[in-house]
Amino acid sequence: MFNLRGKKAIITGGAQGLGFSMVEAFHQAGVEVAVIDISDNVESLAAKFNEKAAKVHGVKGNLLDMDSLQQSFQEALEKLEGKVDILINSAGLIKREPAFDVSLETWHRILGLNVTAVFELSRLAAAEMKKQGSGKIINMGSIVSVLGGYNAVAYSTSKGAILQLTKSLSNEWAAYGIQVNAIAPGYMLTTMNTDLMNDPVRAPQVEARIPAKRWGTPEDVAGVALFLAAPASDYVTGTLIPVDGGVLGR
Ligand SMILES: NC(=O)c1ccc[n+]([C@@H]2O[C@H](COP(=O)([O-])OP(=O)(O)OC[C@H]3O[C@@H](n4cnc5c(N)ncnc54)[C@H](O)[C@@H]3O)[C@@H](O)[C@H]2O)c1
Repeated sequence: MFNLRGKKAIITGGAQGLGFSMVEAFHQAGVEVAVIDISDNVESLAAKFNEKAAKVHGVKGNLLDMDSLQQSFQEALEKLEGKVDILINSAGLIKREPAFDVSLETWHRILGLNVTAVFELSRLAAAEMKKQGSGKIINMGSIVSVLGGYNAVAYSTSKGAILQLTKSLSNEWAAYGIQVNAIAPGYMLTTMNTDLMNDPVRAPQVEARIPAKRWGTPEDVAGVALFLAAPASDYVTGTLIPVDGGVLGR
């Protein structure tokens, strides 16, 4: 039910943060992984893993550029010898600032990476998955897929869109054996939240809102990603699973 050995995955944004934690977890589960990321670190990623257990490939690409997105997807697919069972769309951007200060350039960049790139990569991967009659697409939502967030209007809008994108694609692709789901991390201990963690006013407010009384770790997210990639979740599609220590239930 939870056996993923021999499966092939593309993970975007896997050079660091939650994406990297999922690369580690999938590698340990015996999955061959191709990581697409804009960071230079992606080029040395393979060396961090034991290729005898399962290969990890790095593909450098800018998912905000459609030509680069398509090229990097093809390169990842070639490295995986033409097969992709799992796509995890983890690359994402946030900028915290009041709505009045958000430039349209920032708005388009955040929506471009967090939504448009996810849509386009999902279509490319699903075309392959449809041929084999099975596949798992896992999108990264957020608690602000549901809540409004504060001082992050473009990000909240993009993560709200991820919830609807996940449901729409699930409705169309479930019949092809492709499950499309999203994970909604809460407040995680990652560089994306460094400013929040170091804010003397907001950090205690955040901590008071978490029923589990701790920030989440990247491993908390990786466990749910493994479940959503495994046969155990074959009848789970079109849903958003919070990994938030109880925040959304509060
Ligand atoms: N960290 C959190 O607390 C949290 C909470 C909720 C949701 N999320 C979501 O989870 C996902 C991962 O978050 P994270 O904390 O690991 O973020 P992160 O900033 O640590 O990592 C993002 C990765 O995306 C890559 N990236 C950025 N721009 C890119 C581009 N144009 N093309 C290709 N790659 C690009 C970066 O190089 C980086 O490796 C994001 O979608 C984020 O919105 C995170």
